[in-house]
Amino acid sequence: MCGIVGYIGKRDAAPLLLEGLQRLEYRGYDSAGVAVAGKSGALRTVKAKGRVRELEDRLPKRFTGTTGIAHTRWATHGAPSDENAHPHLDAEGQVALVHNGIIDNATDLRAKLVADGVEFASETDSEVVAHLIGRSSADTLEAKVREALAVVEGTYGIAVLHAAFPDRIVVARNGSPVVLGIGENEMFVASDVAALVRHTNQVVTLDDGEMATLKAGEYRTYTTEGSRTSAAPTTIEWAAESYDMAGHDTYMHKEICEQPDAVDRVLRGRIDDRFATVHLGGLGIDAREARGVRRVKILGCGSAYHAGQIGAQMIEELARIPADAEPASEFRYRNPVVDPDTLYIAVSQSGETYDTLAAVQELKRKGARVLGVVNVVGSAIARETDGGVYVHAGPEVCVVSTKCFTNTAVAFALLALHLGRVRDLSVADGRRIIEGLRRLPEQIAEILNGEDEIKRLAARYADAKSMMFVGRVRGYPVAREASLKLKEVSYVHAEAYPASELKHGPLALIEPEVPSVAIIPDDELLEKNRATLEEIKARSGRILAVGHRVHEIADDTVVVPRNEPELDPILLGVPLQLLAYHAALALGRDIDKPRNLAKSVTVE
Ligand code: AGP
Repeated sequence: MCGIVGYIGKRDAAPLLLEGLQRLEYRGYDSAGVAVAGKSGALRTVKAKGRVRELEDRLPKRFTGTTGIAHTRWATHGAPSDENAHPHLDAEGQVALVHNGIIDNATDLRAKLVADGVEFASETDSEVVAHLIGRSSADTLEAKVREALAVVEGTYGIAVLHAAFPDRIVVARNGSPVVLGIGENEMFVASDVAALVRHTNQVVTLDDGEMATLKAGEYRTYTTEGSRTSAAPTTIEWAAESYDMAGHDTYMHKEICEQPDAVDRVLRGRIDDRFATVHLGGLGIDAREARGVRRVKILGCGSAYHAGQIGAQMIEELARIPADAEPASEFRYRNPVVDPDTLYIAVSQSGETYDTLAAVQELKRKGARVLGVVNVVGSAIARETDGGVYVHAGPEVCVVSTKCFTNTAVAFALLALHLGRVRDLSVADGRRIIEGLRRLPEQIAEILNGEDEIKRLAARYADAKSMMFVGRVRGYPVAREASLKLKEVSYVHAEAYPASELKHGPLALIEPEVPSVAIIPDDELLEKNRATLEEIKARSGRILAVGHRVHEIADDTVVVPRNEPELDPILLGVPLQLLAYHAALALGRDIDKPRNLAKSVTVE
């Protein structure tokens, strides 16, 4: 899941491309490269292992041209190196290509090309496509690219320059996001609007199997078979500033602190006090269909899956519909029995996660009804599903999801309330949940005001050999998400367990160097959870409790404000985002670009 960006217009391309790469670096940051076409069309390329700033340092003073493409990489085929960085050239250096995705049949194609005497400069799958385009005898660049793509299998978002066609950039999409940016006498292309939002808010999102030719001030789209298409431009919802750090040291801290406003946004205009329910305009199922739902199956990856687990509990509690969540890739490959009375819901921040998108496509192929709970407007999963709920968290740049996780859990509370109120949830309960939802923004702000204390605690626990996160029922998905946050950003090993499972094995791990974080709300399981604290303490384990009151037996307690039991998981997770953040800070980690990860996983 790399980031590609391209520019063609009247301005010098290199500075615009570098700025675009910086904004896409959360998609992959192990190497980068840029190619520009001079007046004659001659291509000049610079590549560098490492961050975009390394590439910037390597650029020669005069690296001019008003047409260019660039790439920031997350290695899949071939380790991070100058050679494996993109753009890749063909043997004559006439073609430059940047690619996001995986070419599944690259090995076969490479073997054929090598047998034909082609010498490869890199170990990547992507370079194959550059050679196929370069060797095409077709008259136009569009035809050369189409010819090459006709033999390619796999996922791609590509942008191509050719020295003989200096007046254009040709791009294509299959499975990886490609967005065109329409400017005044200039055109942009990128994997994500973040790279072009400072220059235009008019964009065209390509569909799978779609290509485009960009020229200075014009573009046209067509299929990989060559028939014209006409996607209407849409307006980007978010201002360019919302992609800035707004005075914070990191995007993670900014996005954690944005949560009160973000939650306010996901609630805005959706609450119906008269009928003690909510309006979800884009849901795509009416009350009768909602009453016909016999089961709910939620699919997602990573934090999206964890938010789905919280959503499943809320739907079962408020709408009394059997519901569960499952990692999308597991669901997809276990050949599931797809049931017509089951409502499937795909959850994704980026809306581009390959495993989740493929599960949606598999379900659609089997005639299932699939809704989406998504953050990025117009993303693939949003367009592929039959309807859904946008979570309006705003741009989430940090690889580690925080505000989008919280907004997704709130979106599920809205969906659960909607399904409950078209079934048997009472007006009184509807009102109770609505009041609880309205209290969330101020309660989150209250938790954030306690950051200094959490920072102090993080310094005490950051040296742990490993950490155990435990919770029961509503607390369990919170424990899973908190352990993922700590792992992702601080690299401290952490496991999450249903508290009741401890005595069935994990209790063996308890020792002073392996502290436990216990999620312990004041609900009907309080006494059960207290027993767990006793169990851990009896083995000299250190305990950090997160709950609604101070627990004397614990070494430390973070007290969060109470809300309705069904909504408490939304609040219980917030201090643990700060714990992971400050633990990573104490350990000197690169917060926004944790090693080995990327923001949206567009490859399998
Ligand atoms: C969360 O912090 C991670 N970045 C990761 O687990 C993420 O949640 C997962 O890759 C799913 O991404 P999505 O929500 O964009 O589909």
